[in-house]
Amino acid sequence: MTPATDWKEVVPAGEAEQLERLGEQLREMQRRRANGKPAARALHAKGKAGVEAVFEVLPGVPDYARVGIFGSPSTYRAYVRFSNGAGSRQPDTRPDVRGIAVKLLGIPGKKIIPALADAKTQDFLLIQSTATPFKNADEFVWFVKANASPATLLPKMIFRFGPGRAIRMLKRLLASVSKPVASVATSRYYSALPTKFGPYAAKYVLLPLAAADASAKPGNSADYLGEELAARLAQGPVEYDLCAQFFVDENRTPIEDSSVEWAEKDAPFVKLARLTLSQQDMNSPRGRRIAEFVEALSFDPWHAPGDFQPLGNMMRARNAAYRLSTEERKAADEPDGTERFA
Ligand code: HEM
Repeated sequence: MTPATDWKEVVPAGEAEQLERLGEQLREMQRRRANGKPAARALHAKGKAGVEAVFEVLPGVPDYARVGIFGSPSTYRAYVRFSNGAGSRQPDTRPDVRGIAVKLLGIPGKKIIPALADAKTQDFLLIQSTATPFKNADEFVWFVKANASPATLLPKMIFRFGPGRAIRMLKRLLASVSKPVASVATSRYYSALPTKFGPYAAKYVLLPLAAADASAKPGNSADYLGEELAARLAQGPVEYDLCAQFFVDENRTPIEDSSVEWAEKDAPFVKLARLTLSQQDMNSPRGRRIAEFVEALSFDPWHAPGDFQPLGNMMRARNAAYRLSTEERKAADEPDGTERFA
């Protein structure tokens, strides 16, 4: 069945200025943390791995989903960065948001950000949670700031959200970040927020092809997630399927409220493409050059053609926040795909 097209964004007056201020608050924290040294990312500061990959649009994509790159089977080169969500580089053993960022190369068409209109890239950013505990960007940035002093977090949350909601939010946060992760190669990742998909609206999910080994225990070294991935990629490729979940209606699949999960029973997964992290030696000189190159890049959901414009308040907030963070840390320009690491 063709997905619904009656989704809509609701943009309050004065929002752009408010979201710019939220981005500035994150940049302020980023700058303070750098303390005069070169700045890391404002969030997702720790890169666990930076690798090369191939992205294959699969045959059998339903007609309605044949939008942009998903229009016909095709193969693109890609760079992938795995990260931990915190604004400081913490050991992998600490509970945290886990992220994956994918940058496709050789993507034709005008891109959304005016200064990057002719860039040849399209990015996908995902985390291991289906939604956020926060309804909007204001709540999210407030939390990031309050969480900088964990000892006073609970009373601050109770004051802001009331005891009932504060406890519910904390439970959701703990459930999503405290899950011990044995391997990034067997974890699911979700965009958690929607984007346009031609006339439709959709969220993305990455489903790993490798099944989790029930007996696998999370490692105990500070960098075990990158080390575990390196061991796998030395032996062979690691694969995921990229699927979309399409907007159904404002109740079940809201655009503006980022605290609502789009349940799979309401918005089933539609398979679009396969992401393959190629077999590679992450520890070789070439592997290290790729990792260094990927670390300097900027991944941003707004790096996309207009058909895939990000939607909703939190996404609009990211339009300001990522630009400020990348400016502060002097990120590299968009790659043109001619890079060779021999
Ligand atoms: C809820 C959905 C979100 C997802 C799935 C997500 C995912 C990610 C990922 C995977 C990265 C790391 C990118 C990389 O490897 O370079 C990242 C970085 C970042 N995120 Fe988000 N994020 C979300 C929401 C937000 C929001 C609401 C904000 C702020 C309002 C935000 C601000 C940032 C910033 C400032 C960076 C660092 C950008 C850079 O310097 O490259 N994110 N995010």
